[in-house]
Amino acid sequence: MSTERRAVCPGSFDPITNGHLDIIERASRLYDTVYVAVAINRSKAGLFTVEERIDMIREATAGYGNVRVESHQGLLVDFCKEREIPAIVKGLRAVSDFDYELQMAQMNHGLTGVETLFVPTSPTWSFLSSSLVKEVAGYGGDVSHLVPELVFRRLTARIAERRADQQGKS
Ligand code: PNS
Repeated sequence: MSTERRAVCPGSFDPITNGHLDIIERASRLYDTVYVAVAINRSKAGLFTVEERIDMIREATAGYGNVRVESHQGLLVDFCKEREIPAIVKGLRAVSDFDYELQMAQMNHGLTGVETLFVPTSPTWSFLSSSLVKEVAGYGGDVSHLVPELVFRRLTARIAERRADQQGKS
């Protein structure tokens, strides 16, 4: 068993937001190594491919020094078992997050004994989600203060590409 203290921050990260980054940064101060596990969901097409999401997270977290970004398919508990990760770190934005997160934490603990630690999201980002960022940006709203700059540039470009594709089809 490794003595290195490891934790994982899991999610879809389509794309990473300042809220995710806040939780990853705080986890990186508490653990020796923080894995960011980007879930591969074949049934749900994202705005960005998993590889693109990973690239953005790697760039956004490069300064922390102890963050490793990987994709994963299947159960999160298996990802943890394979890498000897005893803790999952999750941000809680509001009470409404709690129900589902508690269920998952209890299920995951029952499956392999992995612990889940909840970190209260900074109030600055308590309303923030990747879905809302995409929706607002899709309608031309300004989301530049909600995502890292490198994500904002790629998000704007991707939305413009999608719009051009739509116009080409109609
Ligand atoms: O950002 P999301 O989409 O809310 O992430 C949800 C999460 C962490 C469950 C997903 O990223 C994941 O890792 N799915 C893998 C399947 C799994 O382990 N599900 C939970 C069973 S209790």
